[in-house]
Order: sequence, then C-alpha cells, then structure tokens
Amino acid sequence: MAAGALVFLSLLPCVFMDTKFTSGNCSYHWTLYNGTIPEDAIPGGRDVSGETFYVGLVQLKLINEVFAGMILPSSGTARITSLGITREVKNDPFTIINILCSSDKEAFEWVSTKSENLHLLTDHNLVGGGKVLGQDLYIGRVRSDGGIVLGKVFPHRFIYQGLYVPSKGVFAQFMSYQVLAFNCKDKKRDKEEDFDFGGRNGENGTLEF
Ligand SMILES: *[C@@H]1O[C@H](CO)[C@@H](O)[C@H](O)[C@H]1NC(C)=O
Ligand SMILES: *[C@@H]1O[C@H](CO)[C@@H](O)[C@H](O)[C@H]1NC(C)=O
Ligand SMILES: *[C@@H]1O[C@H](CO)[C@@H](O)[C@H](O)[C@H]1NC(C)=O
Repeated sequence: MAAGALVFLSLLPCVFMDTKFTSGNCSYHWTLYNGTIPEDAIPGGRDVSGETFYVGLVQLKLINEVFAGMILPSSGTARITSLGITREVKNDPFTIINILCSSDKEAFEWVSTKSENLHLLTDHNLVGGGKVLGQDLYIGRVRSDGGIVLGKVFPHRFIYQGLYVPSKGVFAQFMSYQVLAFNCKDKKRDKEEDFDFGGRNGENGTLEF
C-alpha cells in the first residue's frame, strides 16, 4: 500500500507539465515555473501590492489536488488557498508550479459570470484549471481587498461552488467572478490591456478590470 502510493506520487510530475491546448490556430501551454517568468507568460492582474502576477497551476501531490494560483515574480512563489488557508508555495518534492504561456495572448478573455450561469458559457472554451475531489475546475478572478485575486472555480454544487481565492490568510468565496476563456476566433487585439492593467477601476465596481 505504502509502496504503491510512493510509485503513484513519483509518476505524477508528468501529468500536466508542458501540456499544450489548441483552439483553431491558437494555442497555449503550461510549463514548469522555475523562478523566471517566460516571455509569453499570461499575466492575471495586479495584486493588492500592485505587483503583476501570472496565472499558475499548482499541483499538491500529498493531497492529490491541482488548481489555479497566483505566481508572484518578486518572491518566486505561487499564492494559493488550500485546506482553508492562504499559502505561498514553491516547487519542491511535493509541489509543482506550472505557468500559463501563449503567443496568442489576445485569444484569452476574462468572462464575467455567476456560478449559476457558468454552464451557459457553451460558446467559450474555458481554460481547464486542474482537479480537486474529482471535480474539473476552471480559473477565475475578482477584485477584492484592494487588488485582483485569482483562484479556483468549482463549477458544480458538490461540496464547494463558486470561486475560491486567497484572502486574509484564509480564503474568500465569490459567486460572481470572471472566468478565463480561450478562443481563437474571438481573438481581439484590444482585449490585451485586460491582462496588463489589473488595477483599473471599472464603472460597474467589482467585476470590471
Ligand atoms: C488558420 O489555419 C488555416 C489552416 O489550418 C489557414 O488556412 C488560415 O489562414 C489560418 N488563419 C489565420 C488567421 O492564421
Ligand atoms: C527557466 O525558465 C526560463 C523561461 O522559461 C528559461 O529561459 C530558462 O532557461 C529556465 N532556466 C532553467 C535553469 O531551467
Ligand atoms: C455597467 O454599467 C453600465 C452603465 O454604467 C450599465 O449600462 C451596465 O448594464 C452595467 N453592467 C453590469 C454588468 O452591471
């Protein structure tokens, strides 16, 4: 039993490293974050300190979870919330941080939605955001606590529902948020600033970035 678990753990690193997804002529991929932000990494906004963070996917091998986190270049860590607490993690034998990269940055879109309407977004390719308790997750963000926070979207009403983000040392849950989509045919050059200027205040309050 113990030996079996060890073999399983040692095989996991390959599961989603350097995974590539395509949509039409566009593609994105997840690559191992080694402390250097690749040139084609996708920013997710600015956190409360004004730092631009990047979209990460964090694998916690001990609890067999994979979900979205905020990669902070200044510390070389990913800020996540897991088991109810906010943590900053690095790559180590039990943790793998991947970073979202694409040369088709304009194909990404943050789509404003609510939990109850998420299933209606059938014309969007939502970017997969890992798996927790057998649920396939997505990647979401909101403005909260004076900055943009990014985290995991649980799509179904199972144990969790909504967006869970790091907040005040623990976590915060939102039922209205923006979810990350990738669609080549929706490529719009003027969308790019959504990624680079996470600090802008929209006229509608919390969900405009
Ligand atoms: C997309 O790829 C097809 C061939 O697969 C090509 O004919 C088309 O011109 C490409 N479109 C763009 C916008 O690059
Ligand atoms: C770390 O990643 C960067 C960007 O992807 C790459 O240019 C660099 O060669 C990598 N460094 C190491 C030591 O792997
Ligand atoms: C945002 O605000 C504009 C007016 O300022 C309004 O017309 C629009 O319906 C609002 N959108 C949402 C999603 O609240």
